[in-house]
Amino acid sequence: MPDGQNAPDRPDGCPRTASVLDFTDKDPFGFYAGLSSGGPAPVWDETAAAWLVHDFQQCLDCQRNESRFANMYRDADPITVAIKGGGANITLSQGPEHLKLRRFHFRLLSATNVERFREAHIRPIIDGLLDGFPTSGRVDLAADYAAQIPPRIICALLGMPTDDDTVHEILDANEAIVRFIASGYRDTGLRDLALAASRRLNDLLLPYVQARRDNPADDFISRVWQEASVDGITLDEAGVMGICREIFFAGSDTSVHGIANALYLILSDPALKARVMAAPGTVLPALVEESLRLMNVVQFRHRRCLEDTEVGGVPIAKGQVIILLHAAANRDAERFPCPDKVDLERPDPSAHLAFGRGIRSCVGAQLARAEMQEAVALLLARYPAVRLHPDGPPPYFRALYMRSMGPLHVTLDGR
Ligand code: HEM
Repeated sequence: MPDGQNAPDRPDGCPRTASVLDFTDKDPFGFYAGLSSGGPAPVWDETAAAWLVHDFQQCLDCQRNESRFANMYRDADPITVAIKGGGANITLSQGPEHLKLRRFHFRLLSATNVERFREAHIRPIIDGLLDGFPTSGRVDLAADYAAQIPPRIICALLGMPTDDDTVHEILDANEAIVRFIASGYRDTGLRDLALAASRRLNDLLLPYVQARRDNPADDFISRVWQEASVDGITLDEAGVMGICREIFFAGSDTSVHGIANALYLILSDPALKARVMAAPGTVLPALVEESLRLMNVVQFRHRRCLEDTEVGGVPIAKGQVIILLHAAANRDAERFPCPDKVDLERPDPSAHLAFGRGIRSCVGAQLARAEMQEAVALLLARYPAVRLHPDGPPPYFRALYMRSMGPLHVTLDGR
């Protein structure tokens, strides 16, 4: 992708207002509401050098039209390709190759397989973490629980070790890459850090990719080697690395934030917690969808316009970038009455944009949902009296592009 294109003049001549990039570690929802109150038209963000698309239908339409609004990896420069892990990485791929990769990922992460993973990996890993909790005292559920679960599950699925050092390395490296993405792929300092992080992830993964080529086992890496060809994907070592690197990346931090947000909702509302505990089987799926809609892990996604076009009546020039503000769109009052409230009875609870839509929508959504459900269910089953610690630091919205509430200091026994 071209690096750091110059920001065009502000089209309406107005003074610079707040930018979506100003909200690192701050609650952005007042800013989003302000955008929506000005009407559905996209708003130019000078700092981000992009149009903010905040209307639900417009976000949906843009995501469904990849021939006009491409993802940022189309014609990506070699450094960005290297940061993403190269090879057959699904997000880097375009056109027919991308479709083949999606088919393969959907088989790998199918609902049936996810139910198997629930028993084989998700519950045992979560139980193991809960076993390690102190019998009394304070625990930060964001750092000591939410952040620990998805990287361990991804490692287990790939057939890799799930020890603390590996998990720490993954979280650290992913964070460096996320920061570069959040800058709109424009900050060269962050780009260098992301590239170094990418190399560390390659070093971690490569020995397992090489080992499984000749000695397959029951794990994702072996299945990529053995089964991708069914979908017409031809793979060498770099190709397998690319697929696994994206699963590593897309499947770790996202679910970490998702779990933290779901926990925050029940911890900050005792009545909601009581409802979940009374009927977890029926209420938990709705709680998970509402937490995704209301809090939104992935706040926004970038797209580049491939031709002169318009969105919501605003002309957008070929080459300009739009930011699809899923988090704002998911609080559209027309779609979701009382959008700022948790409503467990919404008629179509998964009709949000938290997993994206269209040809780039999340292929790991079923796994993410299962992780979030189990993290809440098993915690409440083991520690029914868990509550936010009265003397703990209050949770706040952390990070920017992917975000969640934290820290979540709790007393496990309610005292
Ligand atoms: C709460 C957790 C998660 C959230 C909120 C989330 C959200 C998203 C979103 C919004 C996209 C669309 C990106 C775009 O439009 O450019 C996406 C794509 C993707 N997600 Fe997730 N995700 C989550 C968990 C996972 C997991 C657990 C995996 C895999 C193990 C995964 C794998 C992927 C992949 C591979 C893509 C790229 C799809 C493509 O380019 O065709 N995600 N995700």
